[in-house]
Amino acid sequence: MPNAKISGIGFFVPPKVMTNEDLSQFMDTNDEWIQERTGIQERRYVENGVSTSDLAIPAVEMAMDNAGLEKGDIGLIIFATSTPDYYAPGSGCLLQEKMKFPTIGALDIRVQCSGFVYGLSVAQQYIENSIFKHVLVIGSEVQSTAMDLSTRGRDTAVIFGDGAGAVVVSASKDDSGILSTHLHSDGAYAKELWVEAPSSGISPRLNQEILDDGKHFLKMNGREVFRHAVTRFPEVIIESLDSNGFSSEDIDLLVPHQANIRIAQMIQKRLGLRDNQIYSNIHKYGNTTAASVPIALCEAVNENKVKKGDLVVLAAFGSGFTWASAILRW
Ligand code: ACO
Repeated sequence: MPNAKISGIGFFVPPKVMTNEDLSQFMDTNDEWIQERTGIQERRYVENGVSTSDLAIPAVEMAMDNAGLEKGDIGLIIFATSTPDYYAPGSGCLLQEKMKFPTIGALDIRVQCSGFVYGLSVAQQYIENSIFKHVLVIGSEVQSTAMDLSTRGRDTAVIFGDGAGAVVVSASKDDSGILSTHLHSDGAYAKELWVEAPSSGISPRLNQEILDDGKHFLKMNGREVFRHAVTRFPEVIIESLDSNGFSSEDIDLLVPHQANIRIAQMIQKRLGLRDNQIYSNIHKYGNTTAASVPIALCEAVNENKVKKGDLVVLAAFGSGFTWASAILRW
């Protein structure tokens, strides 16, 4: 059985920087509050007209170059996003056409912040079962247009940003690659972090009342999210370590979903990790939902923080609630 290994990685963030100071022009907030509560200094926003599939293109090109592959080599596109271009069709199909991939399958994954890790687990199955040799896994998000950029939405709006990351997962005969993946969900908490409209349960799906109430914006119960995140992250990381006979000391680098610096600090404390065992870039990009893990992993690789043979753990928690981990021998 071949191993499923990350053979190429790339990311892209839009050039427009939105600082905490910039946000304070739209809403009653300030740099000190945002940095102290979240660790975020700035995030990137797309220009009007740039969609989630557009943002993914440079990330995919970088990952394909890095893997040394052509479009014809890819067997399947897995596109994780919580902010698809349209309600239908999925962003994966749009990317297939925009980048002129052959007419291969394109699968959208809608599990928000956990989307990329869920996507890796799907790619892993296709590769390990020798169905495909190379699978593309993308996490891409345009969150800026889902934010209520007024004081009404300030608790959520300051946290999120736009960006895209992509990997190629390939069949490998050496002993590196994904060792295991672990997926979870609990829909009892669906409304703690959600976008209520447009909804299939509302006719018409969008109307003036919905817009006036701001139901089309992402809403978050921050305290509830925090409470669950700091439990579920360590739980799913320990699950991945236990399943492979490792302990936290064996982790060379943990790349958690960049949700919030305080969540990352709690994970670090609960697992007893040293500073150099956990990666963070939230200060630059904020929370880019499904894109945050591949962006962070790519930056960590580019900064030589991941070396061949290292034990790398990826973990995410988000809306759903969903949570997941992947453990890799690099
Ligand atoms: N700027 C200034 N003040 C603000 C802002 C803001 N952007 N947002 C809220 N406030 C105010 C509130 O109105 C409140 O004022 P009040 O006391 O007069 O009522 C005060 O700040 C404190 O608000 P709290 O909600 O109690 O603030 P808290 O300390 O809980 O921090 C936060 C809020 C940062 C959202 C926190 O709950 C948190 O970290 N939650 C986790 C959420 C998270 O990380 N989500 C990431 C997305 S989900 C994921 O990826 C896993």
